[in-house]
Amino acid sequence: MPCRVILTLAMSVEPQKTFYLETFGCQMNVHDSEKVVGTLVSEGYRQVETVEEAGLVLYNTCSIRDKAEQKVFNRLNDYKKFQKQGKKFGVLGCVAQQEGEKIFERAPYVSLVAGSASYRNLPQMLVQIEAGKSRVTGLDDRETDECFETEFTSRTNPYRGYITIIEGCDKFCAYCVVPYTRGKERSRTSESVLAEARQMADLGYSEIQLLGQNVNSYKDPSGKKTFAELLAAVGEVSGMKRVRFTTSHPRDFGRDIIEAIDAVPTLCDHVHLPVQSGSTRVLDAMQRLYTRDQYLERVSWMTAAKRDISLTSDMIVGFPGETEEDFEQTLSLLEEVGFDAIFGFKYSPRPNTPSLALEDAIPDEEKARRLNVLLEKQRDIQRTSYQRHIGKIVEVMVEGKNEARAQWNGRTTQNTILNFKVPEGVEPAKGSYIQVMITGSFPNSLLGAMVI
Ligand code: SAH
Ligand code: SF4
Ligand code: F3S
Repeated sequence: MPCRVILTLAMSVEPQKTFYLETFGCQMNVHDSEKVVGTLVSEGYRQVETVEEAGLVLYNTCSIRDKAEQKVFNRLNDYKKFQKQGKKFGVLGCVAQQEGEKIFERAPYVSLVAGSASYRNLPQMLVQIEAGKSRVTGLDDRETDECFETEFTSRTNPYRGYITIIEGCDKFCAYCVVPYTRGKERSRTSESVLAEARQMADLGYSEIQLLGQNVNSYKDPSGKKTFAELLAAVGEVSGMKRVRFTTSHPRDFGRDIIEAIDAVPTLCDHVHLPVQSGSTRVLDAMQRLYTRDQYLERVSWMTAAKRDISLTSDMIVGFPGETEEDFEQTLSLLEEVGFDAIFGFKYSPRPNTPSLALEDAIPDEEKARRLNVLLEKQRDIQRTSYQRHIGKIVEVMVEGKNEARAQWNGRTTQNTILNFKVPEGVEPAKGSYIQVMITGSFPNSLLGAMVI
């Protein structure tokens, strides 16, 4: 008995380990952070809201465009002053993997540099930091076959959550850092993905988004399911209302995915299929492994589907050698396909990538002009095409309320934002599904009224 008292006292005087985590980048990074938070909490740490309160400060970084690494170093520089207070700093994610030990040279007060392919070793890395080791690294050499699977994921949204099904990328598009920052492709077993989906359904989640840099390359290590079969199986988990997936690569995008969407009502009416350019010549230079016509063939499968599948995409303007004529072809593709949304980017040369060897000869002003033209054209397309929804009644997952406008908001199965009014005295619960009549449209959202 006395021993227990002493132990309790000892524990109560030890200050709790605290951490602050800031995340940049794509959904994969956001979800990695949820797993990192869960891992830290299971190791006895407490998450805090500010750098000032934290013992350990972590940045989960992105290096997809611009001078991402420089931004990270500037940020770390801002926090140099905290070093004297004994705070420890760690850089995680894509800039960590890309810059590696160079980070210790430029920011000597950083004690942890870890890329995403090493997160499964986080508990051991934390022990080393706590023991006072000044340079702890977790860097990937594109060798590992392991995924970051943890039972401790700390999801921030109680209704809608991510599940990673495949990590890394083996595509090596000429402009892209991801194959160098996230390691080689590694898929999780379908059993493990389904177990996580069932566990989430039991916890009350009704929307799941399957994640991967390239979900269509999914290869079940247990050999049981193709990507389309896994998608369908997640959609059939009891309690699941909506299943999404991102990102798809046109090269590996099979017709079986559309068949699955047609067959399983919980699979959402939305496919994000980045095309990058409408010119086959540029696609070839980008090493995208498909032509404009092959992309359009995939679009035709979606148009022929029973469901009204909404298609969105990513575009890059100003890739080395992109002529005015190539750019015109991208514009004509926009018209031909009629995307529901696009993300447009100016080409940005990135370390280690094949296109770094090509001269980045298109001036920034010209890239900016092309991007503007592209986004304006897309805006016009959406302004007209979103009107097709007016008069329809659609299901919405309620996400929040804009008090100032007395308007609620949520998303449709097509992932379109819908702002809506509700009848006097009605308070729809967040995460619930309701019927909304669409009454108006804007280029990026819809307007409606709840139907009771
Ligand atoms: N895995 C996905 C997307 C990864 S990155 C895919 O294959 O499509 C998200 C988007 O960022 C890409 O689709 C591309 O449009 C853009 N992007 C990636 N690298 C870029 C670069 N160097 N310059 C400009 N945009 C880039
Ligand atoms: Fe990057 Fe291409 Fe891989 Fe997408 S498929 S992550 S663009 S290399
Ligand atoms: Fe950025 Fe890495 Fe995602 S570079 S976009 S965080 S995979």
